[in-house]
Amino acid sequence: MGTVIDHATVTRAGWRSRHSALRIAVATAGACLDEAGCPPNDLDLLVNAGLYRDGNLGEPALASVIQKDVGGPAPDVAKRLAQELVTRDKVDFLVGFGFTPEALAAAPVATEGKTPMIIMNAATSIITTKSPYVVRISLTLPQVSAPMGDWAIKNGIKKVSTIVTDYGPGIDAETFFKKTFTAGGGTVIDSVRVPLNNPDFSAFMQRVKDAQPEAVFVFVPATEQCITFMKAFKERGLADAGIKIIATGDLLEDHQLQTIGEAALGVVSTHHYSMAHDSPENKAFLKAYADANGPEAGAPNFMSVAAYDGMAAIYNVIEKLGGTMDADKALAILKGYKRTSPRGEIMIDPETRDIVQTIYVRRVEKVDGQYRNVEFENVGMLKDPGK
Ligand code: PHB
Repeated sequence: MGTVIDHATVTRAGWRSRHSALRIAVATAGACLDEAGCPPNDLDLLVNAGLYRDGNLGEPALASVIQKDVGGPAPDVAKRLAQELVTRDKVDFLVGFGFTPEALAAAPVATEGKTPMIIMNAATSIITTKSPYVVRISLTLPQVSAPMGDWAIKNGIKKVSTIVTDYGPGIDAETFFKKTFTAGGGTVIDSVRVPLNNPDFSAFMQRVKDAQPEAVFVFVPATEQCITFMKAFKERGLADAGIKIIATGDLLEDHQLQTIGEAALGVVSTHHYSMAHDSPENKAFLKAYADANGPEAGAPNFMSVAAYDGMAAIYNVIEKLGGTMDADKALAILKGYKRTSPRGEIMIDPETRDIVQTIYVRRVEKVDGQYRNVEFENVGMLKDPGK
């Protein structure tokens, strides 16, 4: 593979850090990169040797993770990189996939190469139907949007405009919000779709304002666009006109929420994870995230949790297979996989290979000086309503 080892270093684990193998590995990698003068983003190959978890001898002695950064929604690049990973590097799993177009482009590569593909974000319902090797551990947009239609009705909202990003997950969000909202007697007076790349929300905001809905249902992908959206909403005077935002949690994801700030206060959204979720598993996750990434990394979000759970699922497969990889056996193990995640109980539906999980209704509040999505209701365990 033409790998060049630039530098090697060793750190000694004192007894104090005996309980955090991950921290030791991260510290060693950081020291090594520092000494080699190599920025982490230039890293192509990371080899973790001898990373053992406490009392868990099933941990593979040697695991390698090959990282490729697609750099935004770029399906052609994703497909080419997936092909290289499967045919040249002979990887055992393809994992990641932030955006739907990348996941859709890579799915045929997973089928062709008989390689399990774990989706850690991309959330258009249809993705799991595109290859028998795809398993999703994140969310689907119908799963988080349908409950918002019901919640709006129950809370006396009758007249709504929708505004979504114009691609797979946005269209799923619009469709499934409308379905439950109109079934409950609500009216969608206008549906606006904005382009995925570099949207200027101002003109769209004016259109929503002119339609005078009681609330606007929103999906935008969890990127800096959330900040741009909330800014435009305020600047265009929609809040002052009394229009409420109801959204999927993508708009108010925990990593960006402090930057959005005051404008988010009181906004209600539906989603599967909030960093304010009160459980021992979430506390352990928040600590592990802070230990591994340091304070400058900021808050984890729902994508971090999907990655964490995805790695746990892979770990479970490796352990069950005793370190010998077999794609079909791996799929059999992943189907029906259950885990107590930082978000609550999760399961992979054996039929659809899609995530089953609790969806929460949350409101942004200030807790200990920080803006947080505080869960106040839930709709129980939900399969993808899009299937
Ligand atoms: C996607 O499927 O492209 C997607 C879904 C939800 C997000 C971001 C991207 O927040």
